[in-house]
Amino acid sequence: MSLSLLPHSINLKFSVKRHHKFFASTPKFSSFSLLPTTTSAVISPLSFASDASTRHVARAVAEEQAPDTSSDDKAEAPNPSKVSSKLVLVIGGSGGVGQLVVASLLSRGIKSRLLLRDPSKAVSLFGQQNEDTLEVWKGDTRNPNDIDPAMFEGVTHVICCTGTTAFPSRRWDGDNTPEKVDWEGIRNLVNVMPHSVKRLILVSSVGVTKYNELPWSIMNLFGVLKYKKMGEDFVCNSGIPYTIIRPGRLTDGPYTSYDLNTLLKATAGERRAVILDQGDNLVGEVSRLVVAEACIQAMDIEFTEGQIYEINSVKGEGPGCDPVKWRDLFKAAQANKPSCTSSLF
Ligand SMILES: NC(=O)c1ccc[n+]([C@@H]2O[C@H](COP(=O)([O-])OP(=O)(O)OC[C@H]3O[C@@H](n4cnc5c(N)ncnc54)[C@H](OP(=O)(O)O)[C@@H]3O)[C@@H](O)[C@H]2O)c1
Repeated sequence: MSLSLLPHSINLKFSVKRHHKFFASTPKFSSFSLLPTTTSAVISPLSFASDASTRHVARAVAEEQAPDTSSDDKAEAPNPSKVSSKLVLVIGGSGGVGQLVVASLLSRGIKSRLLLRDPSKAVSLFGQQNEDTLEVWKGDTRNPNDIDPAMFEGVTHVICCTGTTAFPSRRWDGDNTPEKVDWEGIRNLVNVMPHSVKRLILVSSVGVTKYNELPWSIMNLFGVLKYKKMGEDFVCNSGIPYTIIRPGRLTDGPYTSYDLNTLLKATAGERRAVILDQGDNLVGEVSRLVVAEACIQAMDIEFTEGQIYEINSVKGEGPGCDPVKWRDLFKAAQANKPSCTSSLF
């Protein structure tokens, strides 16, 4: 079943900070709205999609956000009539998890700001959006000069889902290695992040505390788990309220990584049942949709602050976007284990 995601038509216009007027005056892409002009109509966002990428993201989010009637608490569920006071800065919003995060924020009417190396990806992924809804800044997290403090103005929450491949690939071109992205990039971001941010959600990985042990040592041949742990530790010691989400192997599209996952093109349309844990003992897979939803839900669950969770998903019915069910899942995972283990640096 498809549903209308947003209350009103979103007009054209992005602005790109630091490289202004990239889209603002002469959009080069056909315009579309994720949303119908009337909230009463039940219209698939697909009707408005302008290209395959947008269709994919819109469909994935629509499926994930199938209406839930089991809870009275709809505070954080997609609600076209609700105006959110949040401004969420998403880093890595063009990536597999990141684009689902952004589409989901849009569907909830939550203002988003993106930091992208290539701002043109925002239009191809999310269509033309009003800059009041989605603002795009250009920058590379490896470059401290690109992390402009002004980018955090008004930002209430940050969701960071940057990453690169664990093994050498074209995505390492220009030295975009795990050391640079998962460690230095995170450090650069956190160094500039104001403590007024209510929550930083960092997407990391299972296995980061065990990178010297099999099977993780294989994944860590080029240091990805070690550098992710260094990034985690920097976040934990920063004084910024944080929640770290450690996914298992990511499944379902969009397929953006040159790894085994990409080759297998695993689908996880039914992989909705969520397993959350603490202590880095989970081994398994998780749908990118589930990871994106976990990030969004964790922003509003106060007891997830200062916590680290591993996440998998398996075939079965899941919490969807029901905040009560997510709260219960996070609560059940709470295991009195220290969130930050030994520092690596
Ligand atoms: N693949 C797995 O099975 C797996 C398992 C566990 C954890 N994870 C982790 O989960 C997270 C999300 O994974 P994913 O597969 O959804 O990610 P992804 O598709 O690889 O996306 C990575 C994102 O990071 C951005 N990025 C990379 N380098 C950057 C830089 N130097 N500056 C700014 N942005 C940069 C990319 O932007 P561009 O569009 O500019 O490239 C992209 O938006 C990552 O941290 C990943 O390591 C993955």
